[in-house]
Amino acid sequence: MLRVLVVDDDADLRLSVATALSENHYAVDQAKDGEEGVNRVRAGRYDLVLLDVNMPRMTGLEALKEIKAHDPSIIVIILTAFSNIRDAVEATKEGAYNYLEKPIKAENLVYLVDKALRARHMIRNMTLSAPVFKLPNGTDFIGQSTEMKRIFGVIDKLSRVDTAVLIRGESGTGKELVAQALHFNGPRKDNRFVTINCSAIPETLIESEFFGHEKGAFTGADSRKIGKFQYADGGTLFLDEIGDVSPAMQVKLLRALQEKKFTPIGSNREVEVNVRIVAATNRNLEEMIRKGEFREDLFYRLNVLPIQLPPLRERKNDIEALSRYFIDKFNQQYSKTISGLAPAAMELLQQHSWPGNIRELENVIEHAFVIENSAQLTVASLPDSLAGHAARPGLATRLGLEDEDEELDAAAGAEDAIALPVGGTADLGFTLDFGRLDFQANKEEFERRFLISALKAFKGRINQTALHANIPKKTLLRKLQKYGISARDYN
Ligand SMILES: Nc1ncnc2c1ncn2[C@@H]1O[C@H](COP(=O)(O)OP(=O)(O)OP(=O)(O)O)[C@@H](O)[C@H]1O
Ligand SMILES: [Mg+2]
Repeated sequence: MLRVLVVDDDADLRLSVATALSENHYAVDQAKDGEEGVNRVRAGRYDLVLLDVNMPRMTGLEALKEIKAHDPSIIVIILTAFSNIRDAVEATKEGAYNYLEKPIKAENLVYLVDKALRARHMIRNMTLSAPVFKLPNGTDFIGQSTEMKRIFGVIDKLSRVDTAVLIRGESGTGKELVAQALHFNGPRKDNRFVTINCSAIPETLIESEFFGHEKGAFTGADSRKIGKFQYADGGTLFLDEIGDVSPAMQVKLLRALQEKKFTPIGSNREVEVNVRIVAATNRNLEEMIRKGEFREDLFYRLNVLPIQLPPLRERKNDIEALSRYFIDKFNQQYSKTISGLAPAAMELLQQHSWPGNIRELENVIEHAFVIENSAQLTVASLPDSLAGHAARPGLATRLGLEDEDEELDAAAGAEDAIALPVGGTADLGFTLDFGRLDFQANKEEFERRFLISALKAFKGRINQTALHANIPKKTLLRKLQKYGISARDYN
């Protein structure tokens, strides 16, 4: 049974509220002021609190803050006289779900309580079915797809052990987030998470970066330096881009991993450390092993527990949740209130192959934010690269079942349809590339140049260009998108 607490100094009101809700199968308790209300919330388990604004000892607003601090999932509805409406509005900013104006009508009360609890139920189920790893740097690690939910399950298990983990996946798939999730979800979370980007450090400095050095150990070593292994003691050391470590350094690394100790450069004292190793790479280590570029023994030491992150194109179910997340993020960053993506824009995101994975998606959304002026992100605000991909011929075209240009051919009719304004120029001179006897390629090159010439002639004005070059406007826009041509460049 769902439990409700009514907090009000008016005994009659408490009674009538309690009666109405009990009749609708809620278990109701009462408190006569804010302080008693907060104490009861702390002691018991409530799903919803009805809170008066004006009360002795502790006001409703103060009580609201205490209740939300204790358990943010408790729904709070404010009960208020009309004269205190401003306080009620203030309260909704502090996390109250809504407010009811006194005198309170039983049916309004029951309706609002039902609705609030249903909403909470939905949100709870949603968070269960869309796991999010909250990372301490404020990043949410989103995963809506079956593939990512499985990976979240793996992260959850692996975060509790100390064994090395090797994270693999294409660039931008979230390898670094996995490494952080492993650390911050496990028992080492209060110690350091230290990253070494193995590809970014020059060969001459990498050993010192890993293991540290004594003062004067080599030219330029003018003070003692602690290495990252030691710095990460008790925590996690993330070896990013592990495939880029030189063979010489691989040997030293392997030894440190096996023995859990090492000797800083120029020192005669061994240092023992307790670090968990997480490594990541987007390179094909098996191939590198075959070519003798990566040590097999180091590979096996790191690859005890592998995590393979699928590319975004194989988990398109994540695109919507990720887009929503990035839109929220950039709304805050750019102080905008973009509500979401227009359906056609979402369609383009779904069709794209995302070679740069989530990093590319994040960049695309940010790009759209910078240029979008409406309340939604539209196709027009997406980068040309995306629009070009989207206009790739569908299956029917690829199989030759459909003439992609029916529309254009029908509309264009005769070859002399290009009507140039007086003084306009048509820069159509180009040699067909018969070195590549490819109809499709040559036709596309012709179209591209034709469109550019027409746009130049009509100063980038779409309606004029469509009219005079005798192309249906829809086709013109689609073609411009396909070839990544921006009409604005010609006005
Ligand atoms: N599931 C996700 N939820 C939210 N943000 C994500 C997710 N996956 C990746 N990102 C974001 O995408 C960007 C790229 O992720 P990350 O740096 O972890 O990728 P990577 O696999 O390490 O790439 P690289 O191989 O290029 O280093 C980051 O800004 C990251 O915050
Ligand atoms: Mg990375």
